[in-house]
Amino acid sequence: MIQWERKHTNSNEKVASGSNPLSKLTNISSNHVLELQNVEGDSMGLSKGEFMLENTPALPSWMKQQNLHKDDESLDSRKPQNQSAKVNSGDSDLPKVLVVDDHAASRMTAVALLGMEGYEIIEADSGSKAVDLVSEQQPDLVLLDVMMPGMDGFEVCQILKQNELTRLIPVIFITALNDRRSRIRGIEVGADDFLTKPFDRVELAARVKSLVSQKRLNEDLDHAEKVLFSVARAIESRDPNTGDHCERLVKLGQAFGEYLCLSRNQIRDLMWGGYLHDIGKVGIPDAVLLKKGKLTEEEWEIMRQHVSIGEKICQPLRSMRGVIPIIRHHHERWDGSGYPDGLKGNDIPYIAQVFQIIDIYDALTSERPYKRSFTPEEALNIMLEETNTGWRNPELVQQFVDFIKTKVS
Ligand SMILES: [Fe+2]
Repeated sequence: MIQWERKHTNSNEKVASGSNPLSKLTNISSNHVLELQNVEGDSMGLSKGEFMLENTPALPSWMKQQNLHKDDESLDSRKPQNQSAKVNSGDSDLPKVLVVDDHAASRMTAVALLGMEGYEIIEADSGSKAVDLVSEQQPDLVLLDVMMPGMDGFEVCQILKQNELTRLIPVIFITALNDRRSRIRGIEVGADDFLTKPFDRVELAARVKSLVSQKRLNEDLDHAEKVLFSVARAIESRDPNTGDHCERLVKLGQAFGEYLCLSRNQIRDLMWGGYLHDIGKVGIPDAVLLKKGKLTEEEWEIMRQHVSIGEKICQPLRSMRGVIPIIRHHHERWDGSGYPDGLKGNDIPYIAQVFQIIDIYDALTSERPYKRSFTPEEALNIMLEETNTGWRNPELVQQFVDFIKTKVS
């Protein structure tokens, strides 16, 4: 919640909705400082025949039956009948591996070995079938041949890694020994690991096991991130006055970040900051967060804690490292009068300075119960006034002014 107050020497006068703040700006003198005051303070080379079953240990009976099948067999999911399930005994959720190869005999080797390790196996004989099966069955890992007619393994991998829903599924490329070009190309499209033919049973089992557990860990982290974003949204909806403030911050953060030529990670942090900067408000009582009148000094003290509460909530997650400076420092001021650390100038993390500017601008250009929405020009004038009082990085504010003018014109 953000309130703007006109702070006179002896009185506080709220800028009324519908009033023109610029007309009031003309009255500002040294003891009539217009203080835009946010209630919180401010505003992730051998032939196919060379890796055949003869070289593999004895197969379970279900696998021997499968070997009678031909190339055009239906490629159903194969669950081992003997579910000794080495991979995750005690867990009924058997890890699922998709084996993709256009040659049935080649697939058989991998299927046989993985079957003995207790995995549930699904098979695809083409790249396009593989993509379909992944979205239908969400395997825990894809063992992918490089050379296939039609869609090759590289293309399959690229599609999977670019899809938000499948990007966490590890992909192991099956390459020929010393096939350096394929390995480089595989790295480029996001492969997680490589295996050479003929398969070494122990190596295959170890790599698959490791990547499957890594994937599950990543999924847990991914879920944790999603929970945090849900909490942040719930907090936003708790305060009916802010509307779609977070969504707007995400878009503005991306656009301004790109304008400033920030790195991909910095832009992501800015966007995540849009959702998460005020997550600590989950720890602020309604009586304070939603209070309509002026906050007492004790209530202010409570409100200011939202930045450190937010930091504590996000700190355990490594993926949140870049967002934490935004969460903790989005209420610092250039002259050191902000909170929680009273940081001055460039001691304030740059990403937090950038975020703060878009946060304030969005609040100014949005309607609230206690103020009308200011036009971009009015908002920029107010921000420049704040900069003159020493609260913001003058150079960055000027860049923002230029950015908005480019957007508006
Ligand atoms: Fe805040």
